[in-house]
Amino acid sequence: MSDQPERLPPGIANAIDYERLAPQVLPQGHHAYIAGGSGDDVTLRANRAAFGRWAIVPRLLRDVRGGHSRLTLGGMALAHPFLLAPVAHGRLAHPQAERATARAAQATGTCLVASTLTSTTLEEIAASAGPSRCFQLYLQENRIHTLDLLRRAETAGYHAIVLTLDAHLQLPSRSALASGFVMPRECIAANLASYPQSSVPAPALDAGESRIFQGAMRHAPTWDDLRWLMQSTRLPVWAKGVAHPDDARRLQDAGAAGLIVSNHGGRGLDGSPATLATLPGVRAAVGPGYPVLMDGGVRSGTDAFKALALGADAVLVGRLQLYALAAAGALGVAHMIQLLTEELHATMAQAGCATLADITPDHLTAALPC
Ligand SMILES: Cc1cc2nc3c(=O)[nH]c(=O)nc-3n(C[C@H](O)[C@H](O)[C@H](O)COP(=O)(O)O)c2cc1C
Repeated sequence: MSDQPERLPPGIANAIDYERLAPQVLPQGHHAYIAGGSGDDVTLRANRAAFGRWAIVPRLLRDVRGGHSRLTLGGMALAHPFLLAPVAHGRLAHPQAERATARAAQATGTCLVASTLTSTTLEEIAASAGPSRCFQLYLQENRIHTLDLLRRAETAGYHAIVLTLDAHLQLPSRSALASGFVMPRECIAANLASYPQSSVPAPALDAGESRIFQGAMRHAPTWDDLRWLMQSTRLPVWAKGVAHPDDARRLQDAGAAGLIVSNHGGRGLDGSPATLATLPGVRAAVGPGYPVLMDGGVRSGTDAFKALALGADAVLVGRLQLYALAAAGALGVAHMIQLLTEELHATMAQAGCATLADITPDHLTAALPC
């Protein structure tokens, strides 16, 4: 977590090694906050465990010499199917925060999805991030602020709005609470700093009112808000946080440009299913050819291969991005993306897949319990 010149840390052979290194490069509380899910971390663990339930079947004698992992997603030409997930407060991981992540995205041709809650403004991120970038939006309590964020994202040349719908209520992870973590004062949400009302305390509840229904959820987005948002921007709107096939179909019918199957990396409803488990139902609901991404627990090229085989067009990486950023700044993030891409290429080659389109459910079989 230093501002020193960037050098790759020793002993990183695979992308997941950045996760192993994280406790050594992050202060304990910062690590607990980033690594944790919510509640008892049931969904956090489920996300990872789901990948272990599938094995990849090698295929023989296929000519993969023309192989590549290129794809087109929402009009963006990408060299590989790894996107940088929106993550808040990059300053927790590195003093250069999202400026470093943006440089890594540009160097590796990776699509960066910049969070509403970054430590760096969306304009500064756009200046470094390369052509493929999206803006993740949390609807603001005051629609004027939401409209301003939309205008700023349009002006700064973002390709799409990624509307996060599953995180209005987030209960902290017990392990993060036990660490005593408190958000440092310097970790401000730079995009919201000029909206004074965003820090106005919530009004007091009347007797008998619920802290959740009438409290935390009073400004949670609804289908009406989604319609309003889509009418308020010329940018395509993706929906992030999808788990149920009915929601997927309704979002598709409502005009969403694509979906992200996600449970916020296990930081939303604790006890909700693993994203790899809900992905096939969502894909079946919206049919082939409609963009579906997933995230949650992706730590390797083989994980990505399994997600693609089960219906995803691409995957997003959250925590690995912050761990690599903490370990080696922009260089670390670029290295992590390069490792993931090489791991995916190796898996594709061994499974006899020359392109992403060749990756189908037939390449997977149930893994036997060890
Ligand atoms: C520290 C942290 C901050 C996050 N901040 C946001 C955010 O601001 N907006 C958002 O849509 N998702 C956010 N997420 C969720 C990620 O976009 C993504 O869904 C999740 O990290 C994927 O799981 P993974 O970390 O196992 O890769 C955050 C996740 C973490 C770990």
